[in-house]
Order: sequence, then C-alpha cells, then structure tokens
Amino acid sequence: MKIRLISSLSLVMAMMMCMPQLHAAEARTLVAYYSFTGNVRTIVNQLSQQLDADVIEIEPAEEGLDYAANNYAIGSALIGGIREHPDDPSSYPAIKPVRIDLSNYDNIIVAAPLWWSQMAAPMQSFLFQYGSMMQDKNISLIVSSASSGISGVVSDAKRLIPRGRFINDNLWIRSSQTSQAATLVAQWLGGLTLDEPSSDSDMRIRVSDGTHTVVFALNETSAAQSLYDMLPLSVEVNNYGNNEKIFYPPTTITFGDDCIEGDCPAGTLALFSPWDNVVMYYGAASRYSGLYILGTAIEGAEAIGSLSGTITVEKVTATSPIKGDVNADGKVDVSDVNEVINIILKV
Ligand SMILES: Cc1cc2nc3c(=O)[nH]c(=O)nc-3n(C[C@H](O)[C@H](O)[C@H](O)COP(=O)(O)O)c2cc1C
Repeated sequence: MKIRLISSLSLVMAMMMCMPQLHAAEARTLVAYYSFTGNVRTIVNQLSQQLDADVIEIEPAEEGLDYAANNYAIGSALIGGIREHPDDPSSYPAIKPVRIDLSNYDNIIVAAPLWWSQMAAPMQSFLFQYGSMMQDKNISLIVSSASSGISGVVSDAKRLIPRGRFINDNLWIRSSQTSQAATLVAQWLGGLTLDEPSSDSDMRIRVSDGTHTVVFALNETSAAQSLYDMLPLSVEVNNYGNNEKIFYPPTTITFGDDCIEGDCPAGTLALFSPWDNVVMYYGAASRYSGLYILGTAIEGAEAIGSLSGTITVEKVTATSPIKGDVNADGKVDVSDVNEVINIILKV
C-alpha cells in the first residue's frame, strides 16, 4: 500500500488548535508527535497537509517545564533516568491521557525531537505505554535534531515498539532545515513505500524430536538470519524453568543493533544472548535485557513443552512443505480441511 497524498483541512485545523484528538476513523495512518520548541510541530503540520492521516499530539502531564534551561538540565535528567532503567515505568515522565484505538491503524509515523541523542522523553513515555500494542504496524520515524544523528532515536523506537514493522526509511530534519519542511516531507513521502513490509521474513524453520514438531516463522533480524544460516542442526533440547525449552547451537548466533527485545508470549522463539542459547517458550516470559525475539510459532506451538532429547532444526523450504498444509499456502488451518473435503467429494 502506498501512502496517499491528499490534503485534509480538518487535520490542519486540529493541528492549529494543538489538541490531542483523532479524526476520520477510517484513516489507516496515525501520526503521533511530540514537540517542545515547535520544530516537530511545524514538520507534522506540513505532513498533515500532504498525507491522509490522523494526528495526535503527545503532551507532558506537567506543563511549563523548560527542558532546555540550565544547559538542558531537566531534559538531560529525564533521558539519563530512562537510559539507566528502561524497564521501570517510573523512569518515564507522565504524559496527558491519550484516547486512541490503535486497531484502526496499519501505519504509524512517530515524530519526535532528539534529546541527548535519544528520543525525547515524553514520546518515549507514550511508546512505553502503547508500543507493545503496535505489533505488526508499519512504523516510520520523523526526527528533528540540531545536528546529532538519529540512530539512538531509532534504537529507542525499536526497543519501545518491539514487534513493529520498521520501514527503515526515516526522515531526519535538522532544526535549521525546519523552514524547508514542506519540500523535505514531500520528497520523503514520494519515496516512502509501505508495500507489504513485514517483520516476518520468508524464513521458516521446523523443530522436531521425531514425535513433536513445531514450525516457526522467523523475523527479519540479523540474529534470526544467523540462526537460519547455520541450519540444519541436530542438538539436545533441555527444559529450563517451567516455561522454556532451550538448545545451544554449535556456533554463536551473531546479531546487530536491529535486535528486537520485548515480552515473549508462549510460542516465541528467542535468542538469550548472554548464554548464546536459543529459547522456545511454552509459557510466557517478560522482556529481559539481551533476550532477542527471533520469531513466532505458526504451527505446533502447543508441542513446544513436550520437545525432548535430540531435536532437528531445519529450514522449511518449498520441497519440505509443512505437515498438514494440504493446499500449500504456508499455514495449517481450516482451508486445508476444506481442501481435503473437496478432494473426497470429487472422488
Ligand atoms: C533537552 C534537549 C536535549 C537536546 N539534545 C540534543 C542533542 O543531543 N543533539 C542535537 O543535535 N540536538 C539536541 N537538541 C535539540 C533538538 O533536538 C532540536 O532543537 C529539535 O529541533 C527540537 O524539536 P522541537 O522544536 O520539536 O522540540 C536537544 C534539545 C533539548 C530540549
């Protein structure tokens, strides 16, 4: 799906009123922005004239704070607090309540200033609250900074939206370029394609102990690719705690800064990087530092807890279809049952 370039007067008016509100329930793109000195607001104002989207402004609960005073003392303290304890809700400054139904959106554009090379604290607060609900949404970033590069902001977004589909085509506008925002936004939108991006890759793997079989869809991270590249494997699986089956690949899984941290519901495949082992969850686990999500079970998740002994871990390819996937659509579901019924009825 290509972003639609149409203007929306109601959105512009809402922006001018600076009210956190949503419009047009049918719209599928949400722009969530925070701005302290107005640069990001100017950029989003231009964006909303060129893009059919709902816009919401994130506002700190405490009004009138000067984050830049005393050599950016307040802003610096907030960012420092989040850096030290990113999993602690009390690290994040309170924001005004936001009324939003994320299920209305496929695409979310997060627009924020850069503070001390990180995402401005109030936007981090918003994503800390809502990021886990942005699973499978297409995520793009717009960042305004005086001069610093935006990689720290991108990392914050990936940490706070652990299962977002990051488009990796972010717009960085320096504060000195704010007056050119209309042109820069138009250029960015012109090249921005949200065509079927996916955090899921084509990589599928089958894990089996000969009796129990689980198929996982891997995500597009470097860690998942690293595991995929070392297949097939034959390794021992062990139980850990009362929610994990783990195995140790013969060589270390490598990973980059694209890793996804987040809560791990049952069925999650993950790398526990401190121990270099792969974890298959049959019970839920919380986000943990260095625990990187590799994928999700798409078949046989209920069998994870029964895996034992020596397991084979292999790629699922076109020549090794998924067991039960009668119509070869990559899934085992009711359509396969229908396919079997049709076959029987035709006979
Ligand atoms: C607390 C704070 C910290 C900042 N830290 C940086 C920084 O490390 N590097 C940088 O290039 N700009 C930094 N800036 C500048 C802002 O990123 C820049 O002015 C941006 O355009 C502000 O956007 P806004 O007007 O929407 O708030 C900082 C600004 C504040 C308030």
